[in-house]
Amino acid sequence: MLRIAVCVSGGGTNLEAIFKAIEDKKIKNAEVVKVIGNNRNAYAFERAKSRNVAFECVSPKDFEDREKFNNALLESLKAANPDLVVLAGFLVNVPEIVVKAFKNRIINIHPSLIPSFCGKGYYGLKVHEAVLARGVKVTGATVHFVDEGIDTGRILAQKAVEVLDGDTPEVLQKRVMEQAEWIILPDVISKISDGVIAIG
Ligand code: GRF
Repeated sequence: MLRIAVCVSGGGTNLEAIFKAIEDKKIKNAEVVKVIGNNRNAYAFERAKSRNVAFECVSPKDFEDREKFNNALLESLKAANPDLVVLAGFLVNVPEIVVKAFKNRIINIHPSLIPSFCGKGYYGLKVHEAVLARGVKVTGATVHFVDEGIDTGRILAQKAVEVLDGDTPEVLQKRVMEQAEWIILPDVISKISDGVIAIG
């Protein structure tokens, strides 16, 4: 059974997509064992609660310095003993001690076609604002391994989404989530669970 820990910051729609894929058996032989977030008001925690999945808030605000937060995040993850860590709308830069502890075992969903519109400062709505400002006609989402950089790990899956005239950042974000993120993230997890994609 693949043990999955999911890190969240907000609404948790990608977490929901993972839960649904497990329930629909699109992801076999896997379970979400813990949800960890940096924002105690994240609706993602409600989603975990509704499935009786353990959850914990580990917020930088609760620690006197960044190193203490980093260690607390590492301890919270280690306590779950996951095979795979999934960053699903997680807006914290993963500390190096976590990347090292879970080498090639952390994946992230990014709401653009990397290497476009990624890296420092490109997260959430800001990604779609930049896409619209540049005037590209196609965007999408990417699932990649997490390494020491920001959005620089090996790409595992991508899915393109059309940008339409009149799109607002919010409308585009929703289309990218519906037509790409919520499809490719569960699909990559399924491939990891089936051994098609190797981790570790
Ligand atoms: C989404 O745009 C996702 O691509 C990004 O964070 C946003 C919220 O994701 N990583 P979620 O609804 O919390 O899964």
